[in-house]
Amino acid sequence: MSTTLEAPSASSATEQFLKQQHKLLINGDWVEAASGKRFDVINPASEDVIATVAEGDSEDVQRAVAAARKAFDTGPWSRTTPSERGKLLWKLGDLLEQHMEEFAEIEALDNGKPKAAALGGDVTLAIDMFRYMAGWATKIEGNTMSLSVPYMPGEEFHSYTLQEPVGVVGQIIPWNFPLLMAAWKLAPALAAGCTIVLKVAEETPMSAIRLGQLIQEVGFPPGVVNIITGYGETAGAALSAHPDVDKIAFTGSTEVGKLIVKAAGETNLKKITLELGGKSPNIILPDADIEQAIPGAANAIFFNHGQCCCAGSRLFVHKKQFDRVVEGISEAASQIRVGPGMHPDTDMGPMVSQIQHNRVCGYLESGLEEGARAVVGGKKTGDRGYFIEPTVLVDTQKDMKVIREEIFGPVVAAVPFDDLDELVDSANDTQYGLAAAVWTRDISLGHKIARRLKAGTVWVNCYNVFDSSLPFGGYKQSGWGREMGYEAIRNYTQTKAVTVHL
Ligand code: NAI
Ligand code: MG
Repeated sequence: MSTTLEAPSASSATEQFLKQQHKLLINGDWVEAASGKRFDVINPASEDVIATVAEGDSEDVQRAVAAARKAFDTGPWSRTTPSERGKLLWKLGDLLEQHMEEFAEIEALDNGKPKAAALGGDVTLAIDMFRYMAGWATKIEGNTMSLSVPYMPGEEFHSYTLQEPVGVVGQIIPWNFPLLMAAWKLAPALAAGCTIVLKVAEETPMSAIRLGQLIQEVGFPPGVVNIITGYGETAGAALSAHPDVDKIAFTGSTEVGKLIVKAAGETNLKKITLELGGKSPNIILPDADIEQAIPGAANAIFFNHGQCCCAGSRLFVHKKQFDRVVEGISEAASQIRVGPGMHPDTDMGPMVSQIQHNRVCGYLESGLEEGARAVVGGKKTGDRGYFIEPTVLVDTQKDMKVIREEIFGPVVAAVPFDDLDELVDSANDTQYGLAAAVWTRDISLGHKIARRLKAGTVWVNCYNVFDSSLPFGGYKQSGWGREMGYEAIRNYTQTKAVTVHL
C-alpha cells in the first residue's frame, strides 16, 4: 500500500474541533499561555499542520497548581462525596462514549494510528477506565487494628486507618496512547479525590483538550482538572519541580523519569509513580502452538507501530522452531498495510514525529552496521510522513544497541535459544522489566517461567491483553508503582493511622 494514498477527510465534528482556538484549561477556564506563545500540531502521515495550541510554560503551571491547590483545600471538590465523584466519572465515560468516533479520528490525525485501532482500543479502554474507577470511588477503605502497646499495660485504644487523597497531582503523559494515558492517570486520581494538573505530550495534545471540554460539560468543579499543553523541558520540568505538587505520575522515557526523581529530591520529595520503557522478552517454547504464537508475536511488536512500552521487541524462539517462526512473522510483517491512520485499509500508521522517525531509523542503521540482518523491512518508507517498514531482525548479538535499548518502533529481533535456564537468564538480561510473554502448551511450565521472569506483567499464550482491573507497571528501571486496578487507587491515596485512647 502506498503511504501517499489520500486519506478520507474527518467528520465535520472533528474538523470543527480542530479549527478552534485551543487554549489551556486552568481553574475551569480556557486561557491563552501567559507568554501568548502557540505551537503547531502535525499530522504525522501527511506532515500537515492540523491545529495550533497554546504553549504553556512555568508561569501557566504556577497558575494551574494554585487552582488545583485551592480546589483541593477549600473548593467544592473537597466536600464532594465519594458517590458524587463516582457519578461524575461514570458520566464522563458515558459522554466519551457518545463521542467515540470523534476521539478515534482525533487520535488518527494527531498520533497517526489507524482510526479503527483507536476506536476499538484507545477510546473503548478509556471509557472503561472511567467507569471502572467510578466504582472504586465508593470503595476506598481503611482498616481497624487491635493494639498491644507493651509499655502501657491495661490501657485500651481504638485504632484505624484512613485512606486520604494524596493532594495536588501533576500528571505527565506521552504520545503513544494520548487519550488512554490521560484516562489511566485522571480516573484513579479523581476517584481518590485528588486534584490534577495534566501536562500532555507536545506531539499529541488534541484528544486531551477535547476530553477537557467533556470534563467541563460533566460538571467537575473548577480547578479539579487543569490541562497544560506545552513542552517537557519547560512545562513538564516546572511541574516536576513545583514545591506545592504532592505527587507526580509520569509515563515516558526512563531518562525523563530519572529527571523527575531528581527534581522531586531537590524540592519537596513529592511522591512519584513512573511507567517507563521496556525491552520485553516474548518467548516461544518448543511445544508452543505455532499457529497461535506467530500472529501473537507479530501483534506483540507491531501493535501501535511498536510504539508501546510493553512491545515484545526481543523474540526468543527455540532452535527447533526458529526458521519457521522467523518466516511466519516476516510474512505477517510484509502483509501489514502501512498508511495514514484515517485510511480504512491501513493496518499501521506512521511514527508519531520526525524525531521518533529519526530515532527508529538510527536504531535500524546501527543494528545493520553491527551485523544484524533484516529478513523483512529495515528502512523508512513513503515520500512524506514518518513511515517505517515493519522489520524483523536476525543475527543479533546480546550487546548490540538493538537488543539493549528500547527502539519504540516496529522492529523485532528474533533470537534462537536451546537451553531453558539460559533462556530465562537472557530474557532477564535487561535494565527493564515491564512485560514478558511465554507461548507453550505445557501450562505448568508456563506458570513456572512466569514466576522466573522479572517483569510487572507476564502473558501466557497471549500478548497485549489489558484490562482496567489488571495492575500494570514495571520491575527494575521500567518504573515505580502500578497503573490500573485497585493498585492505582492506592497510588493516589496515603494512609493515616488514627489512635484514640479509650
Ligand atoms: P519523553 O519521556 O521525553 O516524553 C514523555 C512526556 O514527558 C512528554 O509529555 C514530555 O513533554 C515530558 N517531558 C519531556 N522532558 C521532560 C522533563 N525534563 N521534565 C518533565 N517532563 C518532561 O519521551 P519522548 O522524548 O517523547 O520519547 C523518547 C523515548 O521514550 C521513546 O523513544 C521511548 O523509548 C520512550 N517512551 C516511552 C513511553 C512509554 O509508554 N513508557 C512513551 C513515550 C516514550
Ligand atoms: Mg524527550
